[in-house]
Amino acid sequence: MSILRYPVPGTIGIRWTFSTPVAHNRGVEITVRPLQVEDAEAMVAAEDEETVRWLTGGRSTVEGTRRYVRHLETRAATGSTKRAFTIRVDGHCVGSIDHDADPQDGIGPGDVNIAYTLAPWMRGLGITARAVGLLCAQLGAQQAGERAVIRCETDNVASVRVAEKAGFSVSHEVPSTNEHGEPVQMQVYVREL
Ligand SMILES: CC(C)(COP(=O)(O)OP(=O)(O)OC[C@H]1O[C@@H](n2cnc3c(N)ncnc32)[C@H](O)[C@@H]1OP(=O)(O)O)[C@@H](O)C(=O)NCCC(=O)NCCS
Repeated sequence: MSILRYPVPGTIGIRWTFSTPVAHNRGVEITVRPLQVEDAEAMVAAEDEETVRWLTGGRSTVEGTRRYVRHLETRAATGSTKRAFTIRVDGHCVGSIDHDADPQDGIGPGDVNIAYTLAPWMRGLGITARAVGLLCAQLGAQQAGERAVIRCETDNVASVRVAEKAGFSVSHEVPSTNEHGEPVQMQVYVREL
């Protein structure tokens, strides 16, 4: 199992951590780790209306999340490229991020889609862009694709900002459907791997 580490923004000298409002004058460590059944409680606790609105389309349960983890494992064993990770701050699970090269609206050959959510009490600190950076580094090292892609509904300002902070630029818009099955316009952001 791989655990990737990334310095929090504002690293001074050779230290790979620094103080943020999260840390209250101590270093914090942002890592991503493959999602496991044991993470289900933390994942459900980290969910809010924004998660449901922009990503999942419905409230989760602990048992449903455990089933989802097993479902991903089964799909991976039968050829799906989707892999899910937890976003961790000082080892604590505070969100999730996944990558997926399976066919979807706006995803072409060589593209790997990245999607994420973060607990509300951790938002606004630039954590998700760091997790995206970790995943892109891993995808690049694995030669998993040519471009990382983030698809954001045009109204999802926070997600757009994550894409921009993680070094993505807008490529084009595609008509798609959201998690509620409603038609939406997706902005497609890309970054070379
Ligand atoms: C999108 C999301 C993961 C962003 O994560 P994050 O680590 O908070 O991102 P950032 O810290 O870079 O903040 C991004 C923007 O969120 C907004 N923001 C700032 N503080 C915030 C807070 N306390 N709470 C909510 N949003 C905040 C700002 O617009 C910020 O942009 P800015 O830095 O230019 O001011 C998070 O908002 C989330 O989980 N949203 C629900 C799920 C979702 O939309 N997923 C994406 C689907 S494509």
